[in-house]
Amino acid sequence: MADEIENGQKAKPEKMLSDEQKAKLAESQGVTDAEIADGDPDGSLEQKDIDTPIDNKGSKFETFFDAPYSEIKVVLRDTIKPDQRIIDLGANKGNLEDFLDTLDIPVAVECVDTDQQALEELKAKQFENLQIEVAPMDANDFVDGYTGDNVDIALVNATLHEINTPSDQRQYLQHFFERMRAILKQEGRVIVGDYYYPDSVTDEEVASFIEYQKKAINHADAREKFVKPELLCEIGQESGFLVEHTKEIRAVKEIDRRYYIVVLRKQ
Ligand SMILES: C[S@@+](CC[C@H](N)C(=O)[O-])C[C@H]1O[C@@H](n2cnc3c(N)ncnc32)[C@H](O)[C@@H]1O
Repeated sequence: MADEIENGQKAKPEKMLSDEQKAKLAESQGVTDAEIADGDPDGSLEQKDIDTPIDNKGSKFETFFDAPYSEIKVVLRDTIKPDQRIIDLGANKGNLEDFLDTLDIPVAVECVDTDQQALEELKAKQFENLQIEVAPMDANDFVDGYTGDNVDIALVNATLHEINTPSDQRQYLQHFFERMRAILKQEGRVIVGDYYYPDSVTDEEVASFIEYQKKAINHADAREKFVKPELLCEIGQESGFLVEHTKEIRAVKEIDRRYYIVVLRKQ
């Protein structure tokens, strides 16, 4: 395994969806199982050439996550429609809002984050097409306390690992999707993008990468915090959501760390 990473060979992708989940997805999309991306049909699991970051949480942060941002941008471009109401859980200083604004589609975005300073930066930005509100608070409290059922899109990019309960992810996701069902319009969508390490990567390899990542961007999360996409899809489906789209890429060249996107539509 270590050799594979060092030599930059393509990793064998772990199964992202169960056979039953794939069948449901195929049925809903009118495609064959073979076209569903739990293999690597378009080469997206190949190692990406990403500039090696050297310091801080500034512009290098985006460079480190170039490939994932490219993926979420494609999904946003294909999903967002005029006049939608979006909630962005863990919006930070508005990386996704910067991109949304370039789409020339008028939308309202409520940006939630515990980082008040980041939200201040976001609020100070001039957007052409976005009507922005900020909610400096815990995302779970925001979702629990939301009283409307008027949300078109709930965006959760690189944040699920921060807000879930690692000791009981199943229960956390059951509650999360129950709340999502309550606040989303019919056919509303939850778009989740996040990372995980496949089981084939050893804890030692992860520990060594965490040290490297801390030096690179002053931040690294424990492996246990990440929700695997298979569990996300499973609980989402059990909770009355259709898994509309999934994609997974290898996010960095140093280790087989995956970034996935799952789009779930309320039925
Ligand atoms: C890696 S950043 C992702 C930012 C943004 N979604 C993006 O894709 O660029 C994770 C964000 O989650 C926020 N966060 C962490 N725990 C949170 C919580 N309990 N409630 C709300 N936001 C939280 C952090 O402050 C940070 O801004």
